[in-house]
Amino acid sequence: MKNIILIGFMGCGKSTVGIKLSYRIRRSIEDTDKLIEKEEGRTISDIFQTDGEAYFRMLETACLKRMIKRTNHKIISTGGGLPLKEENRTLLKKLGTVFYLRATPETIYERLKHDQSRPLLQGENPQEKIRTLMADRSALYEQAADVIIDVDGKNFDTILDEIVKAAD
Ligand code: S3P
Repeated sequence: MKNIILIGFMGCGKSTVGIKLSYRIRRSIEDTDKLIEKEEGRTISDIFQTDGEAYFRMLETACLKRMIKRTNHKIISTGGGLPLKEENRTLLKKLGTVFYLRATPETIYERLKHDQSRPLLQGENPQEKIRTLMADRSALYEQAADVIIDVDGKNFDTILDEIVKAAD
């Protein structure tokens, strides 16, 4: 049976929705960021700091390629930048049904304004960074998606209902 894959901007809820969904439909969950951290033995922030974003992006593609060989009937949550590479979008489509959790920059900012774990949003004016990154990325998320779920103002149960209805 097909994997359920969650994509979307940092802070859109992929990890939390993934965990709640795994209880609801009794499927286990994998998270590309966590798999990469485990494989590398260091945090995403450390990887960005020591080896840079391009290296991290290479790890994401390698992670997807490994998953295609061995991941079935699971829920997979992904890093927010993973669908930006065309190669990764093709791999995602092969890996399962892709759900884009779409949120506005305002929602993202409210959720992440105190967060320090996202290297791309650190420093001056995170609000502006979110807006710019979102403008660059939204068309690519839409291209990568089989199903788009708007998450603003919705509770988790509603989001889960929408995903379950659209899966398979
Ligand atoms: C990133 C999102 C992060 C993580 C890394 C880069 C991005 O994952 O992969 O910090 O480029 O949007 P989350 O979406 O889980 O925060």
